Amino acid sequence: MIKYIGSKRTLVPAILELIQRAGDFGSVLDLFSGTSRVGHALKRAGYRVLANDHNAYAHTLATCYVQADAEEVLADAAKLVAEFNTLPGEAGYFTDTFCVQSRFFQPKNGARIDAIREAIAAKDLKPELEAVMLVSLMEAADRVDSTTGLQMAYLKSWAPRASGDLQLRVPDVLPRATQGKGRAFCLDAVQAARDLTADVAYLDPPYNQHSYLGNYHIWESLVRWDKPEVYGVACKRVDVRERRSPFNSRPRVAAAMRQLLESLQAPGRRRLLQQRGLP
Ligand SMILES: C[S@@+](CC[C@H](N)C(=O)[O-])C[C@H]1O[C@@H](n2cnc3c(N)ncnc32)[C@H](O)[C@@H]1O
Repeated sequence: MIKYIGSKRTLVPAILELIQRAGDFGSVLDLFSGTSRVGHALKRAGYRVLANDHNAYAHTLATCYVQADAEEVLADAAKLVAEFNTLPGEAGYFTDTFCVQSRFFQPKNGARIDAIREAIAAKDLKPELEAVMLVSLMEAADRVDSTTGLQMAYLKSWAPRASGDLQLRVPDVLPRATQGKGRAFCLDAVQAARDLTADVAYLDPPYNQHSYLGNYHIWESLVRWDKPEVYGVACKRVDVRERRSPFNSRPRVAAAMRQLLESLQAPGRRRLLQQRGLP
């Protein structure tokens, strides 16, 4: 899994236990899924998971760890990982932006990331297999980056891990959960709360004013592969300035959270409201 601020790596067992103790539920909605660590653990425990996050890289992680099922993608993913691990580097947008204009990765790894990302695009894979390959590349790049875990800045001196060679691994994709196939969504959390229904909702919003898009802009550009214009020393994508979340804003967060909680509907309550013709 990638380094991610606010990731629930150490809390996953406690969250799982709380949900299991709360009742005999079948489905869980994770509205701010991030790395999808929580959704992955819930899927492993048998729950049908609906994972949502408004950033494309997080949606890709959720498609890999929550929506894709091992029996459908793992054999092909293993073949592609072996094939891409032999690809020579070929410098392009990624190397120029994140190894020359800035120093997040060493150029030898930047060139391999460029070559593998272009190869993934050229294969025109089905969405779930493509997400598994993008996660494999994101995680491989994360193992050789030169940051403290945030992409707002790179280190002045190279991190020791940056000199290692980029190597893909097959992500830990799980078999389909006993309670049914999971789904990944890329919606604003308030919209997702309105549109999606599950027995339990798990809410883990951001904690401060720093947007996750700004913190992880390299993963967003790697996944979208839209080669955007960048600004500043960290070479952030220009849309970091416009794509803001109310959950990163002190004046806006209370109203957004209220709206989200009012929108959340348990299946029983939704059915009851529908039967009575109520909104
Ligand atoms: C604290 S992190 C979640 C961490 C996650 N539980 C994990 O273990 O990795 C908060 C997440 O909320 C997402 N987010 C922020 N504002 C959002 C919004 N308005 N709608 C949907 N997701 C949002 C961010 O992209 C980020 O991944």
